[in-house]
This record gives sequence, structure tokens and C-alpha cells, in this order.
Amino acid sequence: MKIAVIGTGYVGSVTGACFAEMGNKVVCVDKDQKKVDQFASGKVPLHEKGLDEMVERNLKNKTLSFTTDLKDAIKKNDIVFIAVGTPPNEDGSADLSHVLDVARSIGQMMEHPLIVVDKSTVPVGTAELVKKTILEELEKRGENFEVNVVSNPEFLAQGSAVGDFMEPSRVVIGADDPKVIETMKELYEPFTHRESRFFSMDPKTAEIVKYASNCFLAAKISVNNELANICAKAGADFDHVRRAMGADPRIGEAFMYAGPGFGGSCFPKDVKALIKTAKDFGYDAEMFKQTLDTNEKQKFVLSQMVVDEFGEDLQGKVFGVWGLAFKAGTDDMRESSALTIINELIKRGAKIQAHDPEAMHMAKHEEYFGENPNIAYFEDKYKALKGADAMLVITEWKEFRTPDFTEIKKLLNQPMIFDGRLLYEPKKMQELGFDYKSIGRS
Ligand SMILES: NC(=O)c1ccc[n+]([C@@H]2O[C@H](COP(=O)([O-])OP(=O)(O)OC[C@H]3O[C@@H](n4cnc5c(N)ncnc54)[C@H](O)[C@@H]3O)[C@@H](O)[C@H]2O)c1
Repeated sequence: MKIAVIGTGYVGSVTGACFAEMGNKVVCVDKDQKKVDQFASGKVPLHEKGLDEMVERNLKNKTLSFTTDLKDAIKKNDIVFIAVGTPPNEDGSADLSHVLDVARSIGQMMEHPLIVVDKSTVPVGTAELVKKTILEELEKRGENFEVNVVSNPEFLAQGSAVGDFMEPSRVVIGADDPKVIETMKELYEPFTHRESRFFSMDPKTAEIVKYASNCFLAAKISVNNELANICAKAGADFDHVRRAMGADPRIGEAFMYAGPGFGGSCFPKDVKALIKTAKDFGYDAEMFKQTLDTNEKQKFVLSQMVVDEFGEDLQGKVFGVWGLAFKAGTDDMRESSALTIINELIKRGAKIQAHDPEAMHMAKHEEYFGENPNIAYFEDKYKALKGADAMLVITEWKEFRTPDFTEIKKLLNQPMIFDGRLLYEPKKMQELGFDYKSIGRS
């Protein structure tokens, strides 16, 4: 099939590359010329496992291309995916301006019937709104092409996005026309043929599925963080609690971790957006409001543990920090808990020596830490600990799991670790002579 994907962020670039990998001819469009140039020359400007190789392979095969020329992409393709950002507005609602900009452009530029697919996470009713927007533009031109707007929410997770797309837990298609559902089924068949993971429904229901999934997962994290905090106060170990809880199939083993609060571009904004949608329908989504409140509080737990140990005045103190990205496997810093934790320490006079395997370049952007003289970055994770008064682990990168503790002990001013991800065994840490403090444990 001939596909255009508009927006080459985490979702758009992975969607485009994976469809190309299955033999479709895909053009990815972005308004950011620099990003397009980087992709087109095979230099993937974001960190996502397996994406570099896939982009390179499909560029070479000419199954994948990148452009800023939206008009040409709309003219030459039959299916147009919208995968632009939907950041939160002040009131928590999803900002649909990018989605509607693209819809307007489609209406202004299309020259034949199109299937337009909303892959961006958008509130209930957006498929209708996108269709209306396209039809209005067509009417202005005196044209009347057939337009089908499909809701196809994306469930990939950053860090495992390529794998998630290639073997999806489910593909959700919201469309009214059975012919369009068939076309989408055919497009996704190579990804879903092993198991029946294709769910078709009406567009509004499909739009809700995405928010429902993210709100459920975010609530699961907040429940676990709350339980972890109770464990820490009660002298229990949440790591054992979650393992035993997870053995109940109704609870499940997946997504049972405690940590310094969820971040990223999806959970915070999608929970806010569903709360706002509910409000617009006259419903007060209290449970999801609490999910966000609990998460906001959780972001301060690790820095408070440091303050409890060192006092409010952290002048002259240095902390070695491992992990800046909002989770492992990505360079994405959006709403990362590391921002709150590090800023809380700096605010009290501390200096930070930070290491992250992928996110350090991103952390230096103006919207995150900028050129902050209180933060020094280290390519070598051990060098970030040299002369530090304690070590903090914020992101659960695999390479932090079994480090050289003898080396760590030598480098730190004193053997003290604040573990935000329950990565290490308290008993072992004690045997190694560390003063070990962890979220979810006393
Ligand atoms: N990141 C995730 O893990 C994830 C997972 C599932 C769903 N989603 C949803 O997918 C959507 C995209 O997320 P993302 O993380 O890929 O966003 P992103 O911010 O990484 O990328 C969005 C891209 O769209 C481009 N863009 C914006 N307006 C444009 C226009 N008019 N024409 C062409 N390009 C335009 C931007 O330049 C940017 O490159 C969001 O709605 C998000 O909620 C994200």
C-alpha cells in the first residue's frame, strides 16, 4: 500500500519505518526541516532500539523516504496517517491544533479519495472533527472527494517502540465503513497474523480505548507507589509485596514496579485529557485526579529522602545521579521525575554530577535543565560518582542493575545510595557496607 505518515516523532517515525519494513511504500512528512534531513540521511534524531537499522535498510530499499513536502505526499498516497503531537492545553485538554492543521492541509491539497487515520492520541469525537475540517476545506475548493477518517490509537511504549509495533498487543481500528475496516485489517495483517489482535469498533469507542488504557496503567503505577510508600513507613519491602501480589493473575506481574513517579509524553497528558473530557460531559473523574495528585507527590519522595539525611541546607554537597530520561530505553526527558528531583536538590544548594546512557544531550535543552552550572554531565557512569556525597538512581537502565559496587564505594565520599527504582537487594547492599536507602523500603 502507499502510505504517508505526517509527524516524524517517536510514533510517526516508528509507524513509517515498520510499515515500510513490511513492504509498503511509505513517505514520512514533518514540518521540521532539520529532523527530516537527519532522517533522510539515515541519522535517526531520537533514541529508539532497532529504529536506526530499520530506517537505514528501508531508505536503501527505497521503501521509506522523508520530506517536508506535504502536498506531494498527500497527492501520491492513498492512506494518510496523522501522528503529530497532542500536548496538553492549560486546562488539561489535548491541544488539537497540530492535528487540525494537518486536517486543513489535507482538505486543501487532496486530489483523490483518501483514508485519513488518526494515530495521534486524541479525545473522543476527534475523528468526526477531522472529517468536518477536511470537508470544509474541500467545499471551499468546490471539490467533493470521498474521505474516510479512521481512529487508530497507538499503544507502543518508548524504549520498546519498534518491537511493540512489530508485535502489537492489539490493533484498534475505529471506523464506520466495513470496506475501510477491511483495508486497515489488510494493512495490519502482517503484524497480527500470528494471533487475532485486531479489534474493530466505531471511531469514538476507539478513541476512548487509548485513554482508558493509559489511565488504567497510570493508576496502576500510582497505586503501587502509594503501597511502596506505606511499605517504607511500615518497615516492609515493596519489592516482595509486588512479586507476591503479581502472582494473582487478576493483578498480574507486569507494570508492578514502584518508582519516583511516572513521566513521559503520554501518561500525564492523557490522564489530564480524560479528566477534562469527562468534565465536558459533566462527570467528575475523581479516581484519575487522585492518580495525578499521587504522582505529583511521588516525584518529591526521593529528594525528600536526601533532605531527611543531609538536612535542608545542601550547600557544598555533591550528588552523583544515574538516569535522567523518564524511563529506560529512551532519550525522552518530557515530564521526567529527574527534573523535579534534581531541581529540588539544586534549589537547596547541591551540585549534581549526572550520567544517562542516552538522554544527556536532551537534558541540556532549554526546556529541561538548559546550561545549568550546577549540573556536570559524564559519559562514564562511574566518573559521575567521583567525590559525591551520595549516589541517586532515578532511571531503571539495565546497565545500572549490576554495577561494580567496589568501584562505586571507592569513588563516593561515603558509601550512600538512594535507589529510586528498587534495583538493588537491601541485604546485599548492607553486606557490601553501603548505607542503602530505597523507595518502597524502610
Ligand atoms: N511517544 C509515545 O510513546 C506515544 C505512544 C502512543 C501514542 N502517542 C501519541 O502519538 C502522538 C505523537 O507523539 P510523539 O511522541 O511521536 O510526538 P513528538 O512530539 O515526538 O512528534 C510529533 C512530530 O510532529 C511534527 N509536527 C507537528 N505539526 C506538524 C505538521 N503540521 N506537519 C508536519 N509535522 C508536524 C513535529 O515536528 C514532531 O516532529 C501524540 O498524540 C502522542 O500522545 C505517543
